[in-house]
Amino acid sequence: LASLPKAKSFSPSGITLYQDFWCPTRLLQNVISFQNHFHAHDHDIILASKPKSGTTWLKAIIFSIVNRTQFTLTNTPLLTKVSHELVPFFEAEVYRNNAIPDLTTMSSPRLFSTHVPYASLPKSIKESKCRIIYLCRNPFDTLVSLWQFGSHLCDIRSSGWTFEEFVERFCEGKEVFGPFWSHVLGYWKESIENPNKVLFLKYEDLKEDIIHQMKRLAEFIGFPFSPDELKQGVVEDISKLCSLNVLKDLEVNKNGKHSFSDVNKNGKHNFVPNKSFYRKGEVGDWVNHFSPSMLERLNKMIEGKFKDSSLNFKYLA
Ligand code: A3P
Repeated sequence: LASLPKAKSFSPSGITLYQDFWCPTRLLQNVISFQNHFHAHDHDIILASKPKSGTTWLKAIIFSIVNRTQFTLTNTPLLTKVSHELVPFFEAEVYRNNAIPDLTTMSSPRLFSTHVPYASLPKSIKESKCRIIYLCRNPFDTLVSLWQFGSHLCDIRSSGWTFEEFVERFCEGKEVFGPFWSHVLGYWKESIENPNKVLFLKYEDLKEDIIHQMKRLAEFIGFPFSPDELKQGVVEDISKLCSLNVLKDLEVNKNGKHSFSDVNKNGKHNFVPNKSFYRKGEVGDWVNHFSPSMLERLNKMIEGKFKDSSLNFKYLA
């Protein structure tokens, strides 16, 4: 692996080292626009994550919590739109095509998301009272999910990586919005130092006790469930609506597609099939993919990078 040809360090879509993280090259200009032009409001709610941590799921949950008095289970936009349309990524949907959108007319609270690491967020996000929810997933499942996603998108596999090589790149930190450890630890540190600003959620905890985590989340963003709502089973209703099986089965998510990036040089969008956001949704799928030597490599990386932090991961259900 040490002798891999240099050209392979970039997939065709490409990643570029920017402010100590590997930014997808096609999004770099958008990230810079986001950094230069976004003005946070105190009521903004921002979901941050590493790709493949369960972002699509948490977007559906946050949207449903915030808009629960406006929509019912039968007319929620979630039934006809993929959640990325409802909670857009700054760097892929809000700031693109060199345009500076007018976000002042959006209704409050504005919901956004990002994969940009904490250190590179615009100052106004850090200085305002807006809330950040960080979603973290154990590195083994995140890696496998990213790998599988790449095979739908032809984004990673077409670069010629084998899974083993992909594990190696992940351990070196050379993957989208990587390194994994600095992304996770950046938000982890902030959540400890500033718990009113950053809520650190784990995918595995959502899987284990969605009801408890939804209540925690609703409190944090200032939309707590009332005793009446709790009695009426509103939390359970939202959790069912946002479950993998329900979302996966909607027409929009079976056959729809979504564009994240700018128009390409032919003036066309690159579309991603919505079904690629919903796969197994399990904790521990990694056991089906890792050989003992790959396991050892990733374990060593994790031990080294996370030993000085109090953060631990849950690897199995
Ligand atoms: P797997 O590939 O392990 O199945 P992201 O939304 O950040 O791109 O993450 C995608 C991962 O979240 C995929 O994991 C996907 O299956 C899982 N996921 C999507 N919707 C989910 C849901 N409603 N419940 C649980 N997991 C979900």
